[in-house]
Amino acid sequence: MTSPKHVPADVPDLSIGILGGSGPQGGGLGLRFAQAGHLVLIGSRSTERGEEAAAKLAGPGLRIEGADNATVAARADVVIVAVPWDGHRETLESLRGPLTGKIVIDCVNPMGFDKGGAFALPVPEGSAAQQAAAVLPESTLVGAFHHVSAVLLADETVESIDTDILVLGDDRAATDLVAALAERIPGMRGIYAGKLRNAGQVEALTANLISINRRYKAHAGLRVTDV
Ligand SMILES: NC(=O)c1ccc[n+]([C@@H]2O[C@H](COP(=O)([O-])OP(=O)(O)OC[C@H]3O[C@@H](n4cnc5c(N)ncnc54)[C@H](OP(=O)(O)O)[C@@H]3O)[C@@H](O)[C@H]2O)c1
Repeated sequence: MTSPKHVPADVPDLSIGILGGSGPQGGGLGLRFAQAGHLVLIGSRSTERGEEAAAKLAGPGLRIEGADNATVAARADVVIVAVPWDGHRETLESLRGPLTGKIVIDCVNPMGFDKGGAFALPVPEGSAAQQAAAVLPESTLVGAFHHVSAVLLADETVESIDTDILVLGDDRAATDLVAALAERIPGMRGIYAGKLRNAGQVEALTANLISINRRYKAHAGLRVTDV
């Protein structure tokens, strides 16, 4: 693992790229980071879809641009992976070059759905975040934003997102930076939650949150007490 080299010291100045930013999770995070003042780059497998998704999120004073995933990976200071689990490995393998030296934030939850609801899928590497770390040895991987609801992120009547963000990674500077980045979004608090080897159960916990949401008609988040 190399040290991140593209990251300015000042968190508010960071540009944020989102792979799969045309979807609800990436788009919602992009909207919130743009509202916090960041330049946000919405990535897609197609330049056109990236531009369209960015145009839909645009608003007064917001800096949101769209492009293909490779351009976004190359341009952004920090890159969020928000593609489905199905396309996770392939997407990251194709972007190894532009992601070299960068902090990459993985929010992907390997999840299946059947009549019983959501369930965590087994991952040979242990977790999506560990798979990303294996595929991107020259990037600094951090897991975060697994539990935040895309519905809440998109709902502009929700001014504050009432949740802690569990942040996992093996590089202290990178996890500190991502925790600080989470706190750019009103209501969110970034909490270090362990090394990447502990990301599997954090990703899997999303299945429990989906069960909670279904039973109680909620968009549940997490709060860690006594920190
Ligand atoms: N939705 C939530 O509430 C939520 C919450 C926490 C975490 N997450 C995680 O965030 C990730 C994204 O969730 P989402 O609901 O936004 O997903 P999504 O809508 O299914 O996918 C996001 C984007 O990924 C691209 N994509 C689709 N298939 C792909 C493939 N095989 N390879 C590469 N790119 C592909 C598509 O963009 P283009 O066609 O434009 O390339 C799509 O718009 C998931 O891994 C999920 O586990 C979601």
